[in-house]
Parts: sequence; structure tokens; C-alpha cells
Amino acid sequence: MANPIKCVAVIGAGVSGVAAAAHLKSAGLEVTVFERTGKSGGVWVFDTRVAPEPAYPSLVPSIAETAYYEDLLAEHGVSGHASNGERENSEDVKILHAPPGPCYELLSNNVPTGLMKTTLNSWPPGTEQIVRHNVLAEYIQDTAAKTGVEEVTQYNTKVERVEKRGGCWYVQTSTLDADTLEKKTRDWEFDAVIVATGHYHAPKVPDIPGLKDWKRAWPSRIQHSKRYRSARGFEGKSVLLIGGSTSSFDIAKELDGIAKTIYQSTRGGEFDHPISMLPPSVKRVPEIKSFDLEQHSRPILDSEAIPCTITLVNGQVLRDIDRVIICTGYHCAFPFLSPYHRDSTPASEADETALVTDGTQMHNLHKDIFYIPDPTLAFIGVPYHIATFSLFDFQAIAVAAVFSGKANTPSEEDMRAEYLRKLGEKGPGRAFHSLRGKDAEYVDELLAWINPGIVAAGGRAVEGHTEEWKAQYELLVEKFKDLLEKKPLLSPVEKDIVDIKAEVREPVQAH
Ligand SMILES: Cc1cc2nc3c(=O)[nH]c(=O)nc-3n(C[C@H](O)[C@H](O)[C@H](O)COP(=O)(O)OP(=O)(O)OC[C@H]3O[C@@H](n4cnc5c(N)ncnc54)[C@H](O)[C@@H]3O)c2cc1C
Ligand SMILES: NC(=O)c1ccc[n+]([C@@H]2O[C@H](COP(=O)([O-])OP(=O)(O)OC[C@H]3O[C@@H](n4cnc5c(N)ncnc54)[C@H](OP(=O)(O)O)[C@@H]3O)[C@@H](O)[C@H]2O)c1
Repeated sequence: MANPIKCVAVIGAGVSGVAAAAHLKSAGLEVTVFERTGKSGGVWVFDTRVAPEPAYPSLVPSIAETAYYEDLLAEHGVSGHASNGERENSEDVKILHAPPGPCYELLSNNVPTGLMKTTLNSWPPGTEQIVRHNVLAEYIQDTAAKTGVEEVTQYNTKVERVEKRGGCWYVQTSTLDADTLEKKTRDWEFDAVIVATGHYHAPKVPDIPGLKDWKRAWPSRIQHSKRYRSARGFEGKSVLLIGGSTSSFDIAKELDGIAKTIYQSTRGGEFDHPISMLPPSVKRVPEIKSFDLEQHSRPILDSEAIPCTITLVNGQVLRDIDRVIICTGYHCAFPFLSPYHRDSTPASEADETALVTDGTQMHNLHKDIFYIPDPTLAFIGVPYHIATFSLFDFQAIAVAAVFSGKANTPSEEDMRAEYLRKLGEKGPGRAFHSLRGKDAEYVDELLAWINPGIVAAGGRAVEGHTEEWKAQYELLVEKFKDLLEKKPLLSPVEKDIVDIKAEVREPVQAH
């Protein structure tokens, strides 16, 4: 990194962006945070409004977040759907500017708060290990306030484009005035950019034969999990969940005892939750072969089930399904960095400058953080299967050390060699960023890299996770090992967590 970095843009004010901005500020850098919503907190900010439905099937990653179902139907001349023109005059303008996230009414953390904390702020005394979303959002907002990040954040300001010209990053933003709905665009210049926009914005909708026809015939009966808010409306219904990971698991638990029948269809993927974690009432079924339309694509009464069948790959047929929730996750996507997207390239064939290909992973990042061809572009929040808040905080510490000149990124050649080694070990695709069980190892590696420079500059070496943190983490890893080995009995630790989680769930009220 040749030139000294003075001013840095941080995109996103979730925990990653707030931690990044706070550490950069305390390293003496000039920071501007851009957040498209009106609050910090990211995923944990609950909004009763929902993002528009994505396209069925979802489109390529670079446009997957903004290719909306209704707009696409309108473009294709299907009557009864909002056109872009109609959206311009409605409340939808706010939603399109900053689409609400996936947080639902009863969302709580699934990693204990003791493991999910930054070095910037403590949890209020007495905070339980498992808490509702508002407690996590308030922690992030309190951290932003205490570290002065709040004052350097441009809210309601969406980053539309990020581009490197010469030695400078140009950032184009649009700010929405919530009263007048007027949008102001502005161009900014920075020495470096940190992308902290999270990875749960662009819903992935699979291209299963017949699914788009079902959606078109009965739009209110089919939805992506990003739009799930509560179990209301699912009373006595037959529900099919597609996908076997956390969203599907969490929604299955919420609907247990409320829906009449819950099916969960999976492809038997590497990251499926074991059946032993699901409530016994949930029936796990194989992958879906097709949504059969037959001749019955007629409108139906609210009380009626969908009058068509679903065929599974083993030949089993599901009937009388009322609702389908697509829990197939999200694409990695950065619409404001579209020149770095290679939409039609498989992940295994990414070139040396691509950031995103098929949306399953990020490419060409050193330690999942620094863009190898130009480390003045950095990402916080990329790894998963981790204790997010703590790990992202250490990533932010590393970026602040590098951007303030205390530590250096290795040569491009060395970064590339390390990256290729990792690619050889993990392979391309979704598993590439999984750090399951390796949080502390990753943090120790980061610190071993940056600490000598910090100490040489007269600072104190940053300490990694505490022994207490590591002990609590070990217990969690043991719990997951038990579960992944599909042991049906809950360990005492897991039982505690499940019991606490049960306590924070209130009974669901009908309308
Ligand atoms: C439903 C759900 C539950 C989860 N539960 C857990 C859990 O229990 N434990 C755990 O450790 N992790 C959990 N996670 C992972 C979670 O993503 C992390 O805990 C963490 O909150 C991610 O923080 P982030 O700052 O990286 O991203 P986010 O929280 O997504 O924040 C990104 C921010 O960037 C903003 N933004 C996006 N695009 C733009 C743009 N173009 N311009 C300006 N601003 C933009 C967004 O508005 C948002 O505020 C969960 C995720 C989901 C989806
Ligand atoms: N705190 C909480 O309680 C909570 C609640 C919800 C979500 N979350 C978090 O939110 C994030 C997203 O979770 P997620 O469950 O939405 O997404 P995810 O973890 O990416 O999982 C997507 C699931 O969909 C499956 N899938 C993908 N394409 C499919 C297809 N064509 N047909 C059938 N199945 C398909 C995947 O299986 P394959 O392996 O077969 O692709 C996987 O099981 C995670 O970080 C999670 O931890 C946390």
C-alpha cells in the first residue's frame, strides 16, 4: 500500500461497519460511514415492513437484490402488478431505497452473547446468553454512540457505485429524504473503502420446475424466508420449507404446534442441520423434483390448500400444501461493485480480479478481508459459521492496523500464494468461508501478522480471545459436534441454550 491512507469510506452500519469505523477512528483516520437505512444494527433491526419478493427464480447475483418479482411481471405485461412508475409515488420508494432485512419478530441469537461481543463495548450487566433481536441491535447502536461512529454516519444514504480511478476510490451515494421522498446523489473521494454490507440481502430462489408457475398462480402462498415475520397466518396450515439450514430450522421451530403439518425438503447438503435438532413433528423429505401445475391454476379461497401436488426426487408426492417458504439462503452480492461481478462464471473458474461469480463465495480476498489486487478495498464480515461480532471486531482491528500503516499486507505474490493454498484445501463454493470451530485460530493468525507492527509503532500488542471466551466456545463446539454426529440426546449446554431460547419465545397471538 504505497500512499498513506487518510480518509476511508465504510459501507454499512451493522456490527461489521460500526466496529470497522470505530477502530479506524481510534487509529486516527478520517472515516465516513454510509448506511442506507435510518439506523445502525443491520440484520438485528426489526422492521414490520418486508422487502419485495425476489424474481422466481432469482436472477444473477449482481442484480439479484433489486430484480423484484412484481416489477418483472409488470415488465412482462402481466396485469395487476405494480409498475416502476406506480412505485415512484408510494411508500415503496423508501422500501426500495433500503429494503428491510430478514429479522423476524421472535429472532434471537443462536450463538451466546458471551461469545458475540466486540472489544469496543460490554453487554449491559445481566444480559442473558440468548436474547431477542432488539438487545443485539441496541448493543450495536450503543457501540456506535459510545465510539463516535454515530456522528460520522450518513444515514438513509445508499452507496450506488464504487470505482477506483487513478489512486482514488470514487463513491457515489444517494440520500433519500424521508419526508419529501427526494433523492440527492453525491460523489465522494476516499483513499480506501471498507465494504461491510453483510451477506443477507439478495435472496436465492432455486429454479425448480413449476415453482415460478405456482408463484404466479398463488403469489401470497409462496415466499422467501427473508419476508417471514411471524407464525401468524400459518395456524392449522400445511407448510413446506425448502432448505435445511438455519432459517428453515428456526421457522420450523416457530411453526411447530401452530401449523398442521410441516415438511422440510433438503438436498442432504453438507450444512443441513441434523434431523435430531428439528421438532419431532417436522417431516424431513428429499429434494423437490417439480411443482406440478396440472390444470388447476385457478384462484383459491383463503381456507383452501393449493390444489396441486409436489413431486419429490424419490417419487413421493405431497398434496394439500397451503404455504411454501423458500429457505434457500442468499447470494453474495455487491451491486455497487458490479464491474467486479462475473455473473456467468462458475466459482471454480474465477479470474484473478473477480470478487463474485455465482454468488456462493467471495474471490481474491487475503484472509477473507483484503482484495488481493488492491488491498485499499477491504471487506469485514465475510466468514461464517463463527461467533460473528467478536470475529468481525478482530477483522476490523486488522484493517485499522493496515490502513493506519502499522502493519503491511504481504506482497501480492505472497497473498496470492496463501489464497491458492486455501482454495486447494477448501475448494471453491460455499465452504470456502466457513470457519466452523476455527474462530480462535483465525484470530490468532491475524494478530500474529499485525502485532509486530503495532508494537514497533509503540503500541501494545492486541490480545486475542480470552481464556473464558475460549472455554465457552469449546462447549459450543462440543454441542455442535454432538448434533452433527446426529446424536439425538441434547448435551447439558445445548439443553440450557434451547431452554433459554424457549423462554424468550412468547406465545403467538392470532389476528
Ligand atoms: C436471520 C439471521 C439471523 C442471524 N443470527 C445470527 C446469530 O444468532 N449469531 C451470529 O453470530 N450471527 C447471526 N447471523 C449473522 C449476522 O449476519 C451477523 O450476526 C451480523 O449481524 C452481520 O453483521 P454485518 O454488519 O456484517 O452485516 P449486516 O448486519 O447485514 O449489516 C449490513 C448493513 O449494510 C447496510 N447496507 C447494505 N447495502 C448498502 C449500501 N449499498 N449502501 C449503504 N448501506 C448498505 C445494510 O442496511 C445493513 O445495515 C444471522 C443472520 C441472519 C440473516
Ligand atoms: N439466529 C438465528 O436463529 C438464525 C435464524 C435464521 C438464519 N440465521 C442465519 O442466517 C444466515 C442464512 O441462513 P439460511 O438458512 O437462510 O441460508 P443458508 O445457511 O445459506 O442455507 C440455505 C439452505 O438452502 C439449501 N438450498 C440451497 N439451494 C437449494 C435448492 N435449490 N434446493 C433445495 N435446497 C437448497 C442449502 O442446502 P445445499 O447445501 O443443498 O445447497 C441450505 O440448506 C446464516 O448465517 C444463519 O446462521 C440465523
